[in-house]
Amino acid sequence: MQETKSRVKRSYTSCGELNAGNIGDTVTIKGWVNRRRDHGGLIFLDLRDRYGITQVVANPENAPEAHRTAEGVRGEFVLAVTGEVGRRPEGTENPNMATGEIEVVVSTIDVLNPSKTPPFYVNEESDVDESLRLRYRYLDIRHPRMQRNLRIRHQAVKFIRDYLDDRDFLEIETPIMVKSTPEGARDYVVPSRLYPGEFYALPQSPQQLKQLLMISGVDRYYQIARCFRDEDLRADRQPEFTQLDLEMSFVDREEVLELTEGLFREMFKQIAEKPLQQTTFPRMSYHDSILRYGTDKPDVRFGLEISDVSQVIQDSEFGVFANTVSSGGVVRGFAIPGRAEIPRSQVDALTEAAQGFGAKGLVWIGLESGENGLAARSPIAKFLSDGEVRGLADATGASAGDLMLFVADAEDRAAEVLGRLRNHVAEQYNLIDESVHAFVWILDFPLFEWDEDAQRWDAAHHPFTSPMDEDIPYLDSDPGRVRAKSYDLVLDGYELGSGSIRIHDRSIQNRMFGLLGYSEEQVEARFGHLLRAFEYGAPPHGGIAPGIDRTIMLLAGEQNIREVIAFPKNQSGQDLLMGAPSPIEPEQLDELHLQLNLPPEPDEENS
Ligand code: AMO
Ligand code: AMP
Repeated sequence: MQETKSRVKRSYTSCGELNAGNIGDTVTIKGWVNRRRDHGGLIFLDLRDRYGITQVVANPENAPEAHRTAEGVRGEFVLAVTGEVGRRPEGTENPNMATGEIEVVVSTIDVLNPSKTPPFYVNEESDVDESLRLRYRYLDIRHPRMQRNLRIRHQAVKFIRDYLDDRDFLEIETPIMVKSTPEGARDYVVPSRLYPGEFYALPQSPQQLKQLLMISGVDRYYQIARCFRDEDLRADRQPEFTQLDLEMSFVDREEVLELTEGLFREMFKQIAEKPLQQTTFPRMSYHDSILRYGTDKPDVRFGLEISDVSQVIQDSEFGVFANTVSSGGVVRGFAIPGRAEIPRSQVDALTEAAQGFGAKGLVWIGLESGENGLAARSPIAKFLSDGEVRGLADATGASAGDLMLFVADAEDRAAEVLGRLRNHVAEQYNLIDESVHAFVWILDFPLFEWDEDAQRWDAAHHPFTSPMDEDIPYLDSDPGRVRAKSYDLVLDGYELGSGSIRIHDRSIQNRMFGLLGYSEEQVEARFGHLLRAFEYGAPPHGGIAPGIDRTIMLLAGEQNIREVIAFPKNQSGQDLLMGAPSPIEPEQLDELHLQLNLPPEPDEENS
């Protein structure tokens, strides 16, 4: 993984390639000053480039002029150093460095460019404020960690290109200035100068275009595609990001899963530092994933599986449990192994965490071995029969010494709270097996989700997703029960990609739009082009779009996709390096026929 050698022939030597085999050679190396040490006499300079670091030593006796130059040199100066490769004096070798046995004894130093004192150390792993890093991103990228991340990104994308090229895929670029695509986020728009009052939208994904390419007979398409979405930002979300967007004709779900799984398995085998937990990716229905993990992006590198215990405690003397079940809710929970003796303060912290995730409360039960089987240590112990304690233990797979946690609530809420609590507990108690990567396929998503605010059905994935054939009869009568031919690829608790088999039949597509509440005019205005295309021989087709940034983040072991993007936006969507967004000239506005209608400044509002 560590890059030490340049593979090209250069007129000079890079900073990573010299070793004991070069002793006696005269070389010229070029790079940045990583560190300078003045031993009052000898001056040591560590010269750095992408390939490594080479120690350079300037001796006032052999090379007085070079030594004088070295005296004036500072960190991040760019130098060309000529000298002879020598063995480092015994005891000063550095076995941790590829170049650790040698040093270059200078005869001349050429300062190619000086540098101001950088705003942070490039040569240290230190906690630098992220806005400073982003403002000076070009310096930040000199850091070996960033160099490594960008290299991993390059390798992964190259792997993808080669893999798909071997399998008949064509890489095709699609436009960035398009018409609004419905992927659920807000669009970024570009005003048109030639058509006053009209706008292009930046693609949230190339979804419609890749479907059109299938109608064009392209058969297998992919693109390393830039996507734009104006949505709330998080550690794994950027306003512009990259997808591996792909689409295939005449395929069923199985073929898309196989292609994608093969690609990711081989890519991780080649590039990842950690093995896969399972080389065949486990598959789970959406329903099971929500039940057992409380989320549709489960991290399966740890246990703490959630169980529904509603049946066990539906007649419980503990009112919260019985009442929740009798009013249609559920009681669910999971067990933490070996934590029965948890101190009070930690239980309180867990309860607080659960409440932060939306729980009304949290029941905890420590299991001890009692006279006749298991005994419960819990604030609600007096309400629980021996049979109920045993039932709860059986359902959650707990035994003596374990701690059980339960939440009673409406089904959706209980699932969400427990899903988040499960992740929280795993982190808190270091239960995640960080030595592996774990892929999971989530299948059989519902086609629709109910939008409470708008009081209508919404597409769970996007409106081009095909319903399961056997569920088509319920499209009108019971939309909530219709499952989709869609799938998500999940890695280590992150949604890596989504895809589906698409609707290729115009009449079903029309019904779909009808159910989503679009009027005929709206359908014509937004999707007329696509529906017309469907009338000219659309092949059955489907695809997927894994996020490149999230993939690289996990390959590189980073916590944030900004660490694997050369020039990302900050958490507030700003480009701190270039200073965007920024106002434009009044003339530009005029040309675009735009007038600003700005909200009042916050302090004007108060006065
Ligand atoms: P979807 O909207 O699920 O599907 O996106 C697919 C993948 O893109 C990545 N992703 C993001 N990455 C970083 N920042 C963001 N703001 C962001 N939004 C999404 C995620 C996600 O899993 N056209 C469909 C795919 C298809 O049906 O083929 C689509 O875009 O990794
Ligand atoms: P209370 O009856 O509100 O005093 O709650 C008694 C115990 O039950 C406390 O430990 C609460 O945290 C817990 N509790 C209350 N409501 C719920 C709920 N919906 N789910 C799980 N535990 C709850």
